[in-house]
Amino acid sequence: MSPLGRLVCSAPIPAPLRDRAHATFDCIEPGKPLRTDEVIEIATAQRADAILVSLGMLLRADHIARLPETIRVVATTSVGFDHIDVPAAHARGIVICNTPDVLTDATADTHMLLLLGAARRAKEHVRNMDGGWKIRNGFFEGLGVEVTGKTMGIVGMGRIGRAVADRARGFRMPILYHNRTRLSPDLEGDARYFPTLESMLPYCQVLSLNAPGGQGVLMTRNRFAMLPHGAIFVNSARGSLVDEDALIDALKSGQVASAGLDVFEKEPNFDARLNELANTFLLPHIGSATVETRTAMFGLAIDGIEAVLGGGYPSNAIRP
Ligand code: DGY
Repeated sequence: MSPLGRLVCSAPIPAPLRDRAHATFDCIEPGKPLRTDEVIEIATAQRADAILVSLGMLLRADHIARLPETIRVVATTSVGFDHIDVPAAHARGIVICNTPDVLTDATADTHMLLLLGAARRAKEHVRNMDGGWKIRNGFFEGLGVEVTGKTMGIVGMGRIGRAVADRARGFRMPILYHNRTRLSPDLEGDARYFPTLESMLPYCQVLSLNAPGGQGVLMTRNRFAMLPHGAIFVNSARGSLVDEDALIDALKSGQVASAGLDVFEKEPNFDARLNELANTFLLPHIGSATVETRTAMFGLAIDGIEAVLGGGYPSNAIRP
């Protein structure tokens, strides 16, 4: 029995971290991903001290209320924590840890992949190649639009938003941003701040969503209508920020020329109409999916649990 305590994992531990997890904790590891109720059941039966979950596992207030009183920390292997009712956990004295920083670059890279895929009609061209290059595009067929030099508006200028801005500057894209608070001059650089989303939208040839989930729908029908006609829309943040019916209508009318999406209102059962449209480029929520990043994320989640069970307060704990 580990002196640190007992950890229940909601899914099998990735091979590179398995030895460490088992050496550090009395670790209960399932053979397949578990549902929330199963995790609660095991944690209760085993009088667990900690739980390790991922993005797909909802921990609402009613789930948190059913956790045994032995639980001191829940770590999620994601930077987003909109699947966890953090105030409910804090009210019970449970520390919640996430995985900031380590996935910033991988997610910003995916964001640029979405942008380029949407702008250059990658889905249509990949489908053509998958079908054996049966469509022979003429000189003026299958054309995308240029990304270089287009104005990008970023909603949510946190770590990932700023990493997207850095990459977009490499494409000589002027950067606008909307954030709850204006950044300090060193973080802001040459980006132009807009205190309201509505005031920024008319200037965004590319609109980039990089804000955290859990704040309701940001991109409503009215707001899509405020973009310049033919804007490109990119979302690697959360599907819950977007009215998908409104997005589909905007894609059909050409108000939004194309969209690159890694996230959806419902995952994995996303709205199939999005894929039926030729002007979308879709990925299955792979923002952080690199070997390096997923290894670092899992390691950071374990660091957080180790710190809490060792009597400390980790830097990746979400502050009340
Ligand atoms: C997260 O970790 O919250 C991201 O959605 C991963 O892509």
